[in-house]
Amino acid sequence: MEPMLSIEQLTVTFYTPKGKVKAVDGASLTLHKGQIIGLIGETGSGKSVLGLSIPGLLPGTAEVSGTIRFKGQELLTLKKDSLRKLRGTEIAFVPQNPATSLNPVMRIGLQITEAIKAPFSRKQKREHAARLLEELNMPKPWDTLRQYPFQLSGGMKQRVLAAIGVAGQPSLLIADEPTKGLDALVRDQVVGLIRRVATHTGAAILVITHDLYVARSLCDAIGVMYAGEIVESGPTEQLFTQPKHPYTSGLIRSMPGKGMIPIPGVSHSLMEEHRGCKFLLRCSQRLGECEWNPPELYALQDQDRKVRCFLHDSSRGREQGVPERLVATADA
Ligand SMILES: Nc1ncnc2c1ncn2[C@@H]1O[C@H](COP(=O)(O)OP(=O)(O)O)[C@@H](O)[C@H]1O
Ligand SMILES: [Mg+2]
Repeated sequence: MEPMLSIEQLTVTFYTPKGKVKAVDGASLTLHKGQIIGLIGETGSGKSVLGLSIPGLLPGTAEVSGTIRFKGQELLTLKKDSLRKLRGTEIAFVPQNPATSLNPVMRIGLQITEAIKAPFSRKQKREHAARLLEELNMPKPWDTLRQYPFQLSGGMKQRVLAAIGVAGQPSLLIADEPTKGLDALVRDQVVGLIRRVATHTGAAILVITHDLYVARSLCDAIGVMYAGEIVESGPTEQLFTQPKHPYTSGLIRSMPGKGMIPIPGVSHSLMEEHRGCKFLLRCSQRLGECEWNPPELYALQDQDRKVRCFLHDSSRGREQGVPERLVATADA
């Protein structure tokens, strides 16, 4: 089956007064109908930039290379008009910042109903909008429809954005931090709504989140981003119970309830030209070669998992349990 979304070797570079910032570096991912994929990683790892690049919402200063295919159609070379049309119908993006993403002078009701593409009457559209808000635990959905964004709290605006995102029944939904700043109850409702959308409408959904609990409870598969690269990907439960990349293990250990042990060191600078592994300086398992040789994304045997770490390169000496060349370098 042709994937809904297929991204290959996506690289996004910003040229800033301070220098070149490689925000996304050779990222690939595949998303099928009805599937929910989560993108996790620390702040600044390139999750939002990757998400924004899909519907073509990056600023003009961004240099983008690679391929982004939606239903087989290349989006990176698509005309602006056609892309805008897709954004209004087939592809929905729920932005990260609720404070600046709603139209301040338009009532909430209109902002949600404008996203509904089905040939419903105005009344039906408003009923649908109210129902969505109710599903998201908004206390007085009908009142909310008549209000303006400034009358709502941050958490309410967040839910309105989620409602706008799902209202048009897009084939592809990209939600950037849809649960940020929400309390546990509301967070679970947003998670529930996104899951129902995937199940009932068959939408393919990319959820960007730094909340690992949301990622684990919502997503079928996960991509872990570090310094612009996807360093590990695989089915959610496997990834959480048997993380392979030292960074993924560190992320999981930093979860409340899993020890809350932070990963030491600071994130790799996106401005540095690097030679080897970007996680090198924070890695407790690093070996000599990691300093000068960038690891590829290695596929694990018999599993739908990939890891960007020499420790999992199966083409190397397996018998010793650890790759031969690495042992030799480490001893040197
Ligand atoms: N418009 C921009 N111009 C320059 N740098 C940017 C721009 N947008 C994002 N970046 C940089 O790209 C990197 C990744 O950012 P982002 O994707 O927002 O991270 P995340 O969503 O994982 O927290 C950051 O270093 C950020 O400063
Ligand atoms: Mg972000």
